[in-house]
Amino acid sequence: MNKQDIKKLDQEKIIGTYGRYDMAADSGKGAVCTDTDGKEYIDFTAGIGVNSLGFCDDGWVKAVTAQLKKLQHVSNLFYTEPQVRVADILTERTGMKKAFFSNSGAEANEVAIKTARKYSNNKYGNDINWILTLENSFHGRTMATITATGQDHYHKDFYPFMGHFSYCKPDDIEDLEKKVTDKTCAVMLEIVQGEGGVVNLQKDFVKAVEDLCHRKDMVFIVDEVQTGIGRTGKLFAYEYFDVKPDIVTFAKGIGGGLPIGGALFSEKVCDVLKPGNHGTTYGGNPVACAGALEVLKRLDDDFLREVEEKGAYMKEKLSAIPEVASVSGMGLMLGVELKEKKAKDVVAKALSNGLMALTAKEKIRLLPPLTITYDEINRGLKILEDVLK
Ligand SMILES: Cc1ncc(COP(=O)(O)O)c(C=O)c1O
Repeated sequence: MNKQDIKKLDQEKIIGTYGRYDMAADSGKGAVCTDTDGKEYIDFTAGIGVNSLGFCDDGWVKAVTAQLKKLQHVSNLFYTEPQVRVADILTERTGMKKAFFSNSGAEANEVAIKTARKYSNNKYGNDINWILTLENSFHGRTMATITATGQDHYHKDFYPFMGHFSYCKPDDIEDLEKKVTDKTCAVMLEIVQGEGGVVNLQKDFVKAVEDLCHRKDMVFIVDEVQTGIGRTGKLFAYEYFDVKPDIVTFAKGIGGGLPIGGALFSEKVCDVLKPGNHGTTYGGNPVACAGALEVLKRLDDDFLREVEEKGAYMKEKLSAIPEVASVSGMGLMLGVELKEKKAKDVVAKALSNGLMALTAKEKIRLLPPLTITYDEINRGLKILEDVLK
């Protein structure tokens, strides 16, 4: 099918929840995507931070197809090796105790919310069940996770919500202390607010959240769905801030393109959920876990250092463009604030010139594959610079 046929059928047959860009992707290799007309694009999106090793990485394809030929799925009522191996690597590398696997980021946050409420319920009774999140946050699109999301425009049209969520201002310790009450059981935050416009949190605020959670025996949840799995140059972005969450959620980058998410639990909360309390048919599926194992195998210290270096290189180059007002983010998760031009228009023009990029609020958001080469970075930046001129 050509792009026009695909577009027409899409508009007729798929509900209109996505404002899609005018491109039909057909194939890809590394950081280069090819559309149905054979046109090539440098990819600064990685499927919104999903394709950590780029398109169709050889090692990843081999690992996934080998698993596919062996066992594609079995119920979570049985044990499987790929799932325990992913859990083993993640817990060994973080010092967390146990894992749970879901299929997406929203579901990862659901299990975190349920665990926090049950932890508090077990210890203090039913009453202490409020979850505090941050204004401008994003935690997903299920009913619980849009409630957790501190942005009104995701809420309108979908009332009523489940209740007992409250929101405090990012980086405002005074507001944090005011909003945490005797009924609060958990605080959940992103280290860099991705959908909120690539907004970095300050270390002293994140440390204050950790400290308050410890003092009041609340559950400290870090949502690393976008920042995790090497995206910022560490396995998890919280490592930059010298804190120890009780629950870390992840998704996107871990499967390298296959749907898998999950949560890691510290000693304090790792035995809260019991058989029957939570579950999912597909979570931790062997094929998705085979992809995750390959991603994690590649993300060693040298690889992560390179992510940090490539991020610093891009930040420096972007900051030098006269039209750019500022660059936020960490590692290969970057937000570009423009002086005058609209990010939406720039991203659309860049696409027609052969660069895939994203927006987040009023910024251009860049999430290239972690394996992107300097040559590909330079080619993408040149397109962006030309559009911005
Ligand atoms: C920080 C954060 N949490 C949760 C989610 C939801 O993840 P998913 O779309 O996989 O449900 C996202 C997705 O963008 C995210 O960025």
